[in-house]
Amino acid sequence: MCEEIVKALLPSPQGVYVDATLGGGGHTAALLEAGAEKVIALDMDGEALAYAGLRMARFAERLSLHHSNFRYLDEVLDQKGIESVQGVIFDLGLSWHQVRSQQRGFSYQGDGALDMRFDAESDSPTALEIIRGEPKEKIERILREYGEEPKARRIAQAIVEHRREVRTTRDLADLLRQVVGTSGFRKTAMRVFQALRIAVNDELENLRLGLDAALSRLASGGRVAALAYHSLEDRIVKDKYRRAEQNQEYRRVNRKPIFASEKEVKVNPAARSARLRVLEKL
Ligand SMILES: C[S@@+](CC[C@H](N)C(=O)[O-])C[C@H]1O[C@@H](n2cnc3c(N)ncnc32)[C@H](O)[C@@H]1O
Repeated sequence: MCEEIVKALLPSPQGVYVDATLGGGGHTAALLEAGAEKVIALDMDGEALAYAGLRMARFAERLSLHHSNFRYLDEVLDQKGIESVQGVIFDLGLSWHQVRSQQRGFSYQGDGALDMRFDAESDSPTALEIIRGEPKEKIERILREYGEEPKARRIAQAIVEHRREVRTTRDLADLLRQVVGTSGFRKTAMRVFQALRIAVNDELENLRLGLDAALSRLASGGRVAALAYHSLEDRIVKDKYRRAEQNQEYRRVNRKPIFASEKEVKVNPAARSARLRVLEKL
C-alpha cells in the first residue's frame, strides 16, 4: 500500500518523516523519492537496518537509521534534536524477510528455532522460553488474547504436557496438528504463532506507546499513518485516533479504513488483511 501511504503522508521537501517500521525499506524509499526532506527510520531488527543501509546508500544524506523499538521514538527524536515531524508511518507486524528466514522462527511452515524476537540481539525471552517456562494459565491467556484462539485451553494443556519435547517450529506445528487435526491445522497454527509472536515482542504495548509518541511529535498539519494486519492492532489504532479527535487537536482523515486494491492483493495476498488509518494534527 505504498502508493496510498505516500498519498496519505504528503511528503514535502520541508518535511521530516519517521518510518517507525523500516523492514525492507519500501516506504522509506517511496517517501524519499516523493521528495521528503529527511526520513528517520527505525527497526528493532538489526538485519533490516543493515540491508536498508546498503540498498539505500543513494539517500544516505537524507536518511537516518536507528536500531530501536518505536516505543522509544521520543528518545530517538530527542537525540537528533528534532522537536516535531511532518509524518509517521507504522507498517505493523513482520517483514517478508523475517517470515522467510526459517531460523527466526516466525513461520509454522519449515523448521527453525522457536525464537520470534524482532530484535534477535536482545535478551528478551524467546517463544521457546515462553513455551518451556510459563504456567499453563498464562499460555492459555496468550493464545486467547493475542491469537483469539477458540481452543486455547486444550492447546495450552497439550503444550504444557509435551513442552520438554518441543524445540523447533516443526515440533510445535506437529503438536498443534495432533491437537486439532489436519483440517483445522492451518488456521490454528496461524493464530498460535501470531499469539506467541505478539507476546514475545510485547507488540500491543509497543503500539500504544509508539502511537502516543508519534501523536505528541506531530507538527501542525502532520499525519500519522498506521497499517494494521489484524483486528487487535486495528482496534488499538482506531481507539487512539478516536480519543485524539475528541480533544479537538486532531482529525481522522478517513473515517473508514483504507484497504489494498484488488490488483495489489493479487500480487501480495497478505495485503488483503491490511487496514490503513490516517490521523492529522490540526
Ligand atoms: C511489515 S514490516 C515493514 C515493511 C516495510 N514497510 C517495507 O516497506 O519493507 C515491519 C517491520 O517492523 C519492525 N518492527 C516491528 N515492531 C517494531 C517496533 N516495536 N519497533 C521497531 N520496529 C518494529 C519489524 O522488525 C519489521 O522489520
